[in-house]
Amino acid sequence: MKKKLFLSALALAAATMLPAQTHTLQVNAKKIGAPIQSTMYGMFFEDINYAADGGLYGELIKNRSFEFPQTLMGWQAFGNYAIKDDGPFEKCPHYITLSNPGHIHRRTGLVNEGYFGIGVKQGERYKFSVWAKAPKGNSSIRVQLIDPASMGENQQFTENKIDITSSEWKKYTVVISSRKTFEKAQLRIYLASDNEVSLEHISLFPVNTFKNRENGCRADIAQALADAHPGVFRFPGGCIVEGIDLATRYQWKNTVGPVENRPLNQNRWEYTFDHRYFPDYYQSYGLGFFEFFQLSEDIGAEPLPVVSCGLACQFQNGDAGAKEASKGYDAKAHVAVADLEPYIQDALDLIEFANGSTDTKWGKLRADMGHPEPFNLKMLGVGNEQWDYEDNAAYTERLDAFMKVLRKQHPEIKIVGTTGPDSEGWKFDILKPKMKQMKVDLVDEHFYRPESWFLDNTNTLRYENYDRKGPKIFAGEYACHGKGKKWNHYEASILEAGFMTDFERNADVVHMTAYAPLLAHVEGWQWRPDLIWYDNLKTVKTCSYYVQQLYALNKGTNMLTLTMDNKPVANLPGQDGLEASAVYDKEDGSVIVKIANVSQEAQKVSVQLNGAKSASSAEVYSLYSKDMDGENSIKTPNKIVPRKSTIAIETNGKTPVLNDELPAMSFKVYRIK
Ligand code: AHR
Repeated sequence: MKKKLFLSALALAAATMLPAQTHTLQVNAKKIGAPIQSTMYGMFFEDINYAADGGLYGELIKNRSFEFPQTLMGWQAFGNYAIKDDGPFEKCPHYITLSNPGHIHRRTGLVNEGYFGIGVKQGERYKFSVWAKAPKGNSSIRVQLIDPASMGENQQFTENKIDITSSEWKKYTVVISSRKTFEKAQLRIYLASDNEVSLEHISLFPVNTFKNRENGCRADIAQALADAHPGVFRFPGGCIVEGIDLATRYQWKNTVGPVENRPLNQNRWEYTFDHRYFPDYYQSYGLGFFEFFQLSEDIGAEPLPVVSCGLACQFQNGDAGAKEASKGYDAKAHVAVADLEPYIQDALDLIEFANGSTDTKWGKLRADMGHPEPFNLKMLGVGNEQWDYEDNAAYTERLDAFMKVLRKQHPEIKIVGTTGPDSEGWKFDILKPKMKQMKVDLVDEHFYRPESWFLDNTNTLRYENYDRKGPKIFAGEYACHGKGKKWNHYEASILEAGFMTDFERNADVVHMTAYAPLLAHVEGWQWRPDLIWYDNLKTVKTCSYYVQQLYALNKGTNMLTLTMDNKPVANLPGQDGLEASAVYDKEDGSVIVKIANVSQEAQKVSVQLNGAKSASSAEVYSLYSKDMDGENSIKTPNKIVPRKSTIAIETNGKTPVLNDELPAMSFKVYRIK
């Protein structure tokens, strides 16, 4: 009896160690299907987690124009100084005057702390600029990069002197070369003359911005965006489009024109979470709509701006307020439909700014800012996460007002509507049919969901069941949120990879997708997981980033059908955790098959390319780790990265066949020419 038990235990152990049956996946390579949109895998940018100021935007000085409500926030001023508000820039009127401290051994000056410090690299050049005037005769300042806690003799490791030679406001620029790599430097300015000096818009910018753009982006972060090959770039947010009230909504017109005259806006992520509170989080709008359009172009993505539809964040303004919206109540949070005209005009002017001839008011501004050619805008989002009620069309009434005008004046622009903040539930159920009735071109769906949701095969078959006659889908914000304290861990990325096969199997209806949020400063985040993390010097690409990148680099040009046992491969019962999709790339004649194994066991697969001729081997890109909780970090940025290899292609009769085994919880992309 004992022996029998022992033998069956052995058999059980062997069975669990062995991969289960081989699953045969049939790819129909003969029938080239619907095109895959160039926008299929994209990015969604929002100024959350210090994504703009303190992140992607190259500026290193915090509160450079003294416009924060506490005018010296980010600065330490000392000696004989005064803040004044009759400066040369109407929308940013504040500046500082430094005057003689009264004794040769006393000093006047100020220190800026940057965003969690100022990151500088040895040998790198930084452009210091300042608007200044010396009304009582020539003056001068000394500009230093300092390590305030230095154990060495000098706190400063770089110093330059600038003579202020005009009694009128004038811009002075000097290029500073850092003598040290330091993540948490500060900028110190001393008055170096008996004569007073006034300073405004004090800026420090890396000379080497991404693509060397003036007022451009931090090169390593922007390069990480470009390396993911996004097909679409949605901006400027999210919730910041809506604002917590209408006064703080994102108004694109405030973000264009001379950078010195862009008014400050409070960032709603400053106060959204009291467990991650950042009193110094504002939007300088240095990274504004011109810069967003230019960046989209520089990274090869279609721009997708989003405008306020006249509803401030519905979460934060209560259902009651929104229900009253159609009656024009609660004017701080909701614009009555009858009063929407300026909002709609903003949308029309935005299209003119992006595409209009240089003879037009807004097209001319674009040209004056350095881009006479149109930005070729094709789409516009109206509203972010808005919703209706059974008895109140809070969102769709407003969307309708926008659409009537936009369809008439700009039939060429595709309109992106929304089904609200959830991937299912009453808000989604009310809006989904309305989006079809209203004939919006695309619907933006959002889903931040737990692992169980990503594993559920009703979700991994989500888009198979979508109406082919309805609007196209923009899965515009999604991420797998892990249990407990796990964020951006490997396991979540594999579940995302599996779920994304559903996008691809349904690329005739899913035209755009984007993980969210995109960026986060390691010291300044409010929301996680995020796709790319950074400190002041380094950037980290998460496992989820690599999944996005593998999809984007291998998105192909046309759909191919693929089945396992005559069913879609979507972790259905009997499919042992396999999810898969197949595409054709007419650029190089490749069939590309993506398989995620989201089960806890290795799975053998045999992929048959029916109707194809093939090379004798294929490229394989694999993402695999045994450590489900493993993640890339500032200290170990390359812990989990995709690996490239090759695999033999055999033939079965005339059919090319690829046999492989996918480890438990892994993702592979096969590229077969
Ligand atoms: O991505 C973070 C937030 O999530 C976005 O601002 C909003 O659209 C969603 O609720």
